[in-house]
Amino acid sequence: MPRSDGSGPVTERELGVALLGLGNVGAGVVKLIAENAEAIAGRVGARLAVRAIAVRAAAKKRLVEVDPALLTSDLNATIDRDDVDIVVELIGGTTEAKKAILRAIDRGKHVVTANKAVLAEHGREIFAAAAAKGVDVYYEAAVCGGVPVIRVLREGLASDRIEELHGIVNGTSNYILSTMTAAGTPFAEVLREAQALGYAEADPALDVGGGDAAHKLAILAMLCFGTHVDVSKVFTEGIDKLDPVDFANAARFGYVVKPLVIGKDHGPERGIELRVHPALVPARWLLADVTGAKNALYVTSYALGPSMYYGAGAGMLPTAMAVVSDMIEIARNDWAAGAGARLRQRHPPLADKPLLPMSEIRTKYYLRFAVADRPGVLGQLTTVLGAHGVSIAQVVQDTAPTARGATAVAGAPVAEVFVVTHEAREGDVQAALAEIAKLAFAVAPARLIRIAG
Ligand SMILES: NC(=O)c1ccc[n+]([C@@H]2O[C@H](COP(=O)([O-])OP(=O)(O)OC[C@H]3O[C@@H](n4cnc5c(N)ncnc54)[C@H](OP(=O)(O)O)[C@@H]3O)[C@@H](O)[C@H]2O)c1
Repeated sequence: MPRSDGSGPVTERELGVALLGLGNVGAGVVKLIAENAEAIAGRVGARLAVRAIAVRAAAKKRLVEVDPALLTSDLNATIDRDDVDIVVELIGGTTEAKKAILRAIDRGKHVVTANKAVLAEHGREIFAAAAAKGVDVYYEAAVCGGVPVIRVLREGLASDRIEELHGIVNGTSNYILSTMTAAGTPFAEVLREAQALGYAEADPALDVGGGDAAHKLAILAMLCFGTHVDVSKVFTEGIDKLDPVDFANAARFGYVVKPLVIGKDHGPERGIELRVHPALVPARWLLADVTGAKNALYVTSYALGPSMYYGAGAGMLPTAMAVVSDMIEIARNDWAAGAGARLRQRHPPLADKPLLPMSEIRTKYYLRFAVADRPGVLGQLTTVLGAHGVSIAQVVQDTAPTARGATAVAGAPVAEVFVVTHEAREGDVQAALAEIAKLAFAVAPARLIRIAG
């Protein structure tokens, strides 16, 4: 591999780059490298030279102009080129991306990827292969897009111990919930609008179902709590079942609804708490102000205390910025390694810490009950909750509008009861709700939204 020995003027040295993918992010990478060539060369001590770009359809119209001679549909030949030092994986998905990353590592190339799915599902194998081969895998863009949270967790807080994290890491979900909060519009309508504006994919399942956020939480847990995570075991609830009535009542109680990822280290005995779900957060909390498609990570650590990182979690240039910054860091390390120093990114060994079962988590809850509006019902409801150790902090009752399908029960009109609990154990709350659902006054299953912050 023709790496420079560090001698000669900066402009004469080059680091070869292979781009896999020239979609949104790939186009941004090409644009940034071209526009910032001088500044990058100054920082790196070399030029980043794109040697080849692998795509599916070479003839397709692109978001940026590139020399057609660079384009190829041969992924493997692109990775294998002798003049390539860094392989940048921007094709997405897991199967082909995993193969491409492992091939690049095997050929002794450093890797940059923006792909949270491949790292969440195959990170163990990828990082082990990189360590064995002595190459780097950088992935700043995989979580919170342009917000450099990976660097913060890996370097900025390297001497600290992270106790807890709360994040808004999916811009599509945050955009949808922010719009539902502001306009009181139902989920399906806001989703359609978000798709028309380009904030949501044609197939939004991974975003609104919480899967994308779970991938990112698995990566964050690796960095924050030093553990591998089986992403299929992370409790994941989407935002698609939320109803405007809950947004209005959240505001009544002083809360805002946000799409959260939550992680907490309970120590070796109890394990790691990881969950993805919409949550009520206090309206005066910093995360409540993270609106639209923006992302944020709120970290609580032993020495620093709370700190928050905020910005654009997606988009061509914000994401490309994170990718190119990774390339710059690899390039710097590469020159340093050539000069005898070993500054390589090292992945500390990861453990397999247990996940705290969801039934064992403790938090506050917002509950909405549809019940027959007759004397004694509220008392029965609170008695069942109390019998399961669930204590009520606030309660409000309204006559249910017919629009939510409420019909009279045995001659009695239907009321909606909104409850905010004190902190309780999830297993106890679920048991209480199951018991309440069987009682004669219950019109529909209770709606539960967890409260955070
Ligand atoms: N978009 C964002 O804002 C954002 C933010 C953070 C992270 N990411 C991550 O960044 C990655 C790329 O996202 P994107 O939005 O740029 O995707 P995209 O617009 O769909 O682009 C994907 C590119 O990969 C190429 N490709 C796909 N499969 C290929 C294969 N088997 N061989 C060769 N080329 C292949 C496609 O070729 P054709 O163009 O010929 O079809 C296309 O150029 C994903 O992992 C995504 O999760 C994206």
